[in-house]
Amino acid sequence: MVQIVVVGCGWVGLATAVSLARAGHQVVCTDVDGNRVRELGAGRLPFFEPGLQEVFRQVLDDGCLEVTSDTAGAVGSTEFVFLCVGTPPREDGSMDNAHLVDAAHDVARGLGRSSGRTVVVTKSTVLPGTTEGVIRPILRKFVPAEVVGLAVNPEFLREGRALHDAEHPDRIVLGSDGQETSAAMRALHRGVACPVFETDLRTAEMIKYSTNAFLATKITFANELANLCQILGVSFDEVVRGLVLDPRANPQFLVPGVGFGGSCLPKDVRALTVAAQARGYDAELLKTVLALNEKQYLQAIRLLEKEVGSLREKRIALLGLTFKGGAGDIRGSRAIPLANGLLERGATVVVYDPVAVQDFLNAVPGVYAVSTLEEALRGADGCIVQADWPEFSSIAGQDFLRLMRTPVVVDCRRILDTERMSGIRLRRIGEP
Ligand code: UDX
Repeated sequence: MVQIVVVGCGWVGLATAVSLARAGHQVVCTDVDGNRVRELGAGRLPFFEPGLQEVFRQVLDDGCLEVTSDTAGAVGSTEFVFLCVGTPPREDGSMDNAHLVDAAHDVARGLGRSSGRTVVVTKSTVLPGTTEGVIRPILRKFVPAEVVGLAVNPEFLREGRALHDAEHPDRIVLGSDGQETSAAMRALHRGVACPVFETDLRTAEMIKYSTNAFLATKITFANELANLCQILGVSFDEVVRGLVLDPRANPQFLVPGVGFGGSCLPKDVRALTVAAQARGYDAELLKTVLALNEKQYLQAIRLLEKEVGSLREKRIALLGLTFKGGAGDIRGSRAIPLANGLLERGATVVVYDPVAVQDFLNAVPGVYAVSTLEEALRGADGCIVQADWPEFSSIAGQDFLRLMRTPVVVDCRRILDTERMSGIRLRRIGEP
């Protein structure tokens, strides 16, 4: 059993902490937000993440995990400290590392009193050079070099599947400052069945950005291809079935729609382009990916307008408000520009989501929120399915016919069963 401190009780911190506790380690989670610490202490998670709350309570009750707001006190003589605080975007899109700097100071003060060796691991998404250039100098002010090791161990957790991904990673990327740290990190991950890639700190940091940039680019490629198929009168589905027979074209992340959202992909790609610009490089491809993603929602509105005509005074049901089904997060959700676009065109927008209605109302106050799918569809002149919640994939054509005034449905996620949609004017981006 190893003593571990996890700094930052967000998605990444909590999923990481719970998975480490379940692996048999003694974990202390810390957060500067006293309210959050109190809630967590009572076993309540501050966000929606399927399955995590139950397991969190279990490790809390078993005494394998504690929560505190005293990072410096918790660090003591712990063997590993995982930095899992947010690196949100500034107004100009650049990465804001203020939380990380604060966390590093707290950790450094705590380690100043420690005797053994501690590995400080950056799990937060940070630009290459941050661990060496920002975290190391802060630690050095308080702690001698020989008692602290530095590692970068990026996370690849998907919201909605965070615990599963933490416990069953596809790969572990381990950046370290030398052999002693790398041996300690390898030992900590012993028993996890996946490839472990060892490298230096800066490369590990860049691998995280490259992954998100790749995924964002791949989705944008799918969207562009779908838009092209649409105007050329070809089925995207059929095209992709042929495309992915090429072993170089993996079928994952090729589902076209209204664009990618979430707390990571948009933020990280933007931070990379801004960092490039600051160093005199114009990252044109990634900038274009972001620009295309911004306007992809218009494809859904165009399809709707083709079927319904002018949207003025039309009642439009918008189903799914989060950035994807299964996640309770509206950050970067394409439902936001979609709702605003519909409102600008004079539509009455009736929104429904299994989890995030209140957050959405705060973001787009002009919409009309309802608490059931039926209410959203009742009397609607058109419907847009924006997020892939399982609840939506089971809607049958009969339900749309029974409830809607005009059965026009734009499925932005390809989740509706086309076989069960007779009588419905069903449109999908990329299908003629
Ligand atoms: C992502 C990465 O997958 C994860 O590895 C990283 O650690 C954090 O960022 P997440 O933000 O949970 O995870 O979302 P993800 O499942 O990757 O989806 C991102 C966005 O792309 C969503 O809006 C999703 O709906 C959209 N998407 C995804 C598509 O539009 N098409 C696809 O084929 C796949």
